[in-house]
Amino acid sequence: MNESSIPSDSPSLVQLVPLQSRGDHRGSLVALESGAQVPFPIARVYYIFGTKPGVVRGLHGHKALRQLCIAVAGSCRMVLDDGWRKEEVWLNRPDQGLLIGPGTWREMHDFSADCVLMVLADAPYDEADYLRDYDQFLAFVRR
Ligand code: TYD
Repeated sequence: MNESSIPSDSPSLVQLVPLQSRGDHRGSLVALESGAQVPFPIARVYYIFGTKPGVVRGLHGHKALRQLCIAVAGSCRMVLDDGWRKEEVWLNRPDQGLLIGPGTWREMHDFSADCVLMVLADAPYDEADYLRDYDQFLAFVRR
């Protein structure tokens, strides 16, 4: 990696979105709508749960997909990599989302036993949009 070719003003890979929690004496509620808290049309929602100890998930990038990841319960450590640098963040709040854009390699580590990681995406599942090989990912982002 040639660190000198990273633009000095490049924004952080970690783009956290606060999600307003509407709490009252009964507890809390977070509502998500396209164009409001979610800056893209929501085409798909999936969630990951029951992850076994020591498992690493993700390990891929996307060519075009945009996603918002929310640990609605528990926690996991998200590692993001744009082909030039890596950053990591703990997802451990149901009132905070992590935006992940195209051309970002992601790995999820250290899932707590109770972790439910919900992901909102702007397109249906499409295996052709995946970059599952790291060298192929690097070639894509550095093209
Ligand atoms: P996978 O991509 O391995 O999940 P992760 O990136 O979280 O490690 O997906 C696991 C399986 O689920 C795989 O067979 C593809 C399938 N899948 C769908 O059918 N639809 C989806 O929206 C997603 C995300 C995965």
